[in-house]
Amino acid sequence: MINYQNNKPFVEGVSIEDIASSHTTPMYVYSQKKIEEKYNKLKNTLNAEIFYAVKANSNQAIIKLMSTVGAGADVVSVGELERAITAGINPNKIIFEGIGKSKDDISFAISNNIRLINVESIDEIQRINNVAQEHNKCIDIGIRLNPNIDGQTIDKISTGKKTDKFGIDTEKLQDIFQSLENAKNINLIGISCHVGSQIFDIKVFSEIFMKMKKNAQLFLDKGYSIKHVDLGGGLGVTYQDKDNEVDLELIKNEFNKCFENAPYQLSFEPGRYLVANAGILITSVMTIKNNGGINFLITDAGMHSLIRPALYQAHHDIEVVDKSNSELVTYSVAGPICESSDILNKNITLPKQKVGNLLIIKDTGAYGKVMASNYNSRGLPIEILVNNNVFQKIHQPLTSREFINQDIIPKWLD
Ligand code: LLP
Repeated sequence: MINYQNNKPFVEGVSIEDIASSHTTPMYVYSQKKIEEKYNKLKNTLNAEIFYAVKANSNQAIIKLMSTVGAGADVVSVGELERAITAGINPNKIIFEGIGKSKDDISFAISNNIRLINVESIDEIQRINNVAQEHNKCIDIGIRLNPNIDGQTIDKISTGKKTDKFGIDTEKLQDIFQSLENAKNINLIGISCHVGSQIFDIKVFSEIFMKMKKNAQLFLDKGYSIKHVDLGGGLGVTYQDKDNEVDLELIKNEFNKCFENAPYQLSFEPGRYLVANAGILITSVMTIKNNGGINFLITDAGMHSLIRPALYQAHHDIEVVDKSNSELVTYSVAGPICESSDILNKNITLPKQKVGNLLIIKDTGAYGKVMASNYNSRGLPIEILVNNNVFQKIHQPLTSREFINQDIIPKWLD
């Protein structure tokens, strides 16, 4: 995503120093061109519909961009559903899943005539049926299956094994059929699965395709007119040189082999693949100190702005903006939060830094800002979108006064 002009880092045609000096750090910066490139590459390789998993980055501008390029949306809460509709995604291109949906959530989805509600448990079938009955409608649903596949990814982002909480066990198909028989206000037209994130192994994709094809056939044989088979997200991206981005050509071969002449529409619901490598987090060095022989660079970004390193021990490469000092130093980059786990990257070698210098935390377009918090009452980062030679702020966080005003002191303490 970063290109260099006269040794200075740029996003598209804009210098990172210029972006950083226009607003306060920490700030997320996204490249529109990179997102468009990723979407087009996926869309042009796989003959399938793409529903963007809004959870990866739910900024209105990013969702709007997805709608402009032609993507639908995969949402997992009523908040995400509202975001997708507000950003202009056609409700007919929205799929609502998630393992905890209240009656109000279901009602909101029904009122907005979205494409599909994906059911994740058998008791939900009846609940959706009841709400649809209250609306006097017969609505389309899909079933998220748990295909019992090990995505060969880290445990915290695995979702498709039998023991994971997601989807309905494919061994319970008879219970699904029985439950559907009594549900007259719903119409089963799809099945879906999602086995986890950061999947690279082609054998895993191949297993997903085979199992979903087999399950679709079981539903078709039972007389359900399955029109959609959703194969989930999880396409692996590069965070460091040793991970090679998932090979779309290999996926395409397996996909075409498996689904030639399939009588249903196929789809994927990627999040990370579309946005992870299209975002960076820019931060400033606040303090430099040595504790116990470790050189710490304390930055204004930390686990409150990007929690992935602390939560999953995830790796994000860090680059400096000013490379002019030829002396190299080994640093641990840590945030300002009062927790020892607030480390962004350990033992990295960088040109010697000064307070006030800018650092770039790379590949943070997915699960970055959306998982940020205002822990320690620190503010949330702003967000910026770059398009060719222009850039614009796309999120202004609440001020600390606005945060404070959200609390309510009860009368008896006033
Ligand atoms: N569909 C469903 C039902 C999902 O649960 C997810 C992600 C996706 C699609 C998109 O997966 P992707 O293509 O982005 O891998 N916070 C974690 C990732 C959690 C993903 C949860 N589900 C992280 O920062 O790595």
